[in-house]
Amino acid sequence: MFGTVAGGPENIPPPKGNYDEDTLCVEPVEIMRRQHFEYILDHRDLTVIEGIRTKKHSLIGCIDCHITPNDEGVYARYSQETHFCASCHQFAAVSIDCFQCHADRPEEAIRKAIGPDQRARRPAQELLETLQFSTAVFTK
Ligand code: HEC
Ligand code: HEC
Ligand code: HEC
Repeated sequence: MFGTVAGGPENIPPPKGNYDEDTLCVEPVEIMRRQHFEYILDHRDLTVIEGIRTKKHSLIGCIDCHITPNDEGVYARYSQETHFCASCHQFAAVSIDCFQCHADRPEEAIRKAIGPDQRARRPAQELLETLQFSTAVFTK
């Protein structure tokens, strides 16, 4: 595995696929290993400050490709060392606050965790709340 070369943990979880046949990741792996945060942070500034929207270095993209389910179909959370980003960060004692706001799992994992039942129930619940709200307004 690549991680052992950089003195990282032995079990860095594998990504879903390659971004590119030559570089594998969005930039050459050797560079990503050492400078990935510069790309993400630059991308954040471009998006948030300058309003430029591209996908290449998006955090959603990293998560989408790098956070894959285990054999039981379960996606790791950032609090676990089996999470791609956490695997190295726990090893190197790096602490980041990004996942307080950003999703640490791909959208498909979150949808799976919420479950089809709740998705079906939610609009009904909203409708009920709307009706209750209207009733409250009209009975005044
Ligand atoms: C307090 C909440 C919060 C924290 C903490 C936070 N972000 Fe964000 N971030 C946001 C919001 C809100 C946006 C704007 C979302 C948009 O415009 O798509 C954003 C946008 C971004 C973007 C551009 C959109 C994308 O998906 O690529 C990147 C990259 C990003 N943040 C990276 C980070 C990183 C890395 C960290 C940790 C060092 C971090 N953020 C911490 C709230 C947060
Ligand atoms: C389309 C898939 C894809 C996307 C998107 C992607 N990567 Fe990668 N990444 C890879 C592949 C493939 C490798 C090669 C290493 C491997 O096979 O484990 C890699 C390697 C890495 C490594 C080195 C891991 C090691 O084993 O030492 C880091 C760090 C990394 N990526 C971070 C990121 C970050 C941060 C983002 C978002 C800015 C990102 N990647 C986006 C596919 C992707
Ligand atoms: C190959 C190991 C490795 C992987 C995988 C990895 N990181 Fe890192 N990351 C590090 C190391 C080591 C540092 C500290 C580097 C430094 O300070 O010079 C770091 C630092 C960071 C920082 C900057 C922290 C600060 O000082 O503000 C951010 C943001 C970050 N990583 C995000 C991510 C995200 C998001 C992922 C998953 C998509 C990820 N990293 C995956 C090793 C890794």
